[in-house]
Amino acid sequence: MTAPVNVTVTGAAGQIGYALLFRIASGAMLGPDTPVRLKLLEIPQAVKAAEGTAMELDDCAFPLLAGIDVDDDAARAFDGTNVALLVGARPRGPGMERGDLLEANGGIFGPQGRAINDHAADDVRVLVVGNPANTNALIAAAHAPDVPAARFTAMTRLDHNRALSQVAHKAGVPVAQVRRLAIWGNHSATQYPDLFHAEVAGAPADALTADTAWLTQEFVPTVAKRGAAIIDARGASSAASAANAAIDHVHDWVLGTPEGDWTSAGVVSRGEYGVPEGLVCSFPVTSSDGEWHVVEGLEIDDLSRGLIDASVAELEAERTAVRELGLV
Ligand code: NAD
Ligand code: LMR
Repeated sequence: MTAPVNVTVTGAAGQIGYALLFRIASGAMLGPDTPVRLKLLEIPQAVKAAEGTAMELDDCAFPLLAGIDVDDDAARAFDGTNVALLVGARPRGPGMERGDLLEANGGIFGPQGRAINDHAADDVRVLVVGNPANTNALIAAAHAPDVPAARFTAMTRLDHNRALSQVAHKAGVPVAQVRRLAIWGNHSATQYPDLFHAEVAGAPADALTADTAWLTQEFVPTVAKRGAAIIDARGASSAASAANAAIDHVHDWVLGTPEGDWTSAGVVSRGEYGVPEGLVCSFPVTSSDGEWHVVEGLEIDDLSRGLIDASVAELEAERTAVRELGLV
């Protein structure tokens, strides 16, 4: 058997952590032949709860679980890490403005980026889940100058999976028959789920894209506002579906996307589709040899262009705000 892969999970005692850790340990993320060592990072007040989760992980006797460390020190938690899942973040509190939220998260993702820079393994791959995920990834990457920027990603796979399900329901087909969807932009209500290149049951999704009223008034807002709808229904933000999307993201990053299909991920723009360089923006992506590749050469219609540009403008505004706060 191969050597264990070190996987660091921050916010391990939170609700996503609880849905995520058992699946990582079961092999769902890195495959059935790859042992993992879990490194859980929490704030001091939540270390005891994380230790409780570690006890439960032990009690599962997962054959692939090579060990569990629990820590409140980022340098130790990221030491030698190969995969870092940055889930822990500061939620918006009463009276907090957007700038306050960005600043509070800068205080988390800046030092964690620095700790990854100084202590992680050379092949480290980072997925930021904690919101605002794209800009938190930007902040972390800015504090890790020795790590290639392409190793920092933000999660929009949950949005992608939500869009797949909405299309499958509308078209009356299994989700496996929906391919080539794309989420563009920010993981926020401005995101744009794009069906113009999608295939349903092997054919272009023309019937769906021709129905402009459904597309613009139902599909796009349903996907873009799904996070808020879950909070409204559950009284808490999505957790199991977010954990599932994190598993999917890292699985495909490490093991590759299926031939002929693509997925969506927030990756550092190199100027593709006119998105300013350096922004962490969601694009349609494939993965091979452990690297994401933006799907190039797609024709972008006017409706899509406007919606992509609006979400990218929001990302630029967030970057400007964190620059002004001295966080990047
Ligand atoms: P939660 O409040 O249940 O758990 C967060 C955990 O993070 C807590 O245990 C807290 O102690 C910990 N934490 C806070 N600061 C930390 C730090 N500096 N280091 C380590 N741990 C720290 O929240 P949750 O429901 O698990 O959600 C976590 C984050 O994921 C939130 O920001 C949420 O908005 C975001 N989220 C993102 C997506 C997405 O699709 N990108 C989807 C759902 C949720
Ligand atoms: C989601 O998309 O479910 C979350 O990002 C919502 C949130 O604000 O935590």
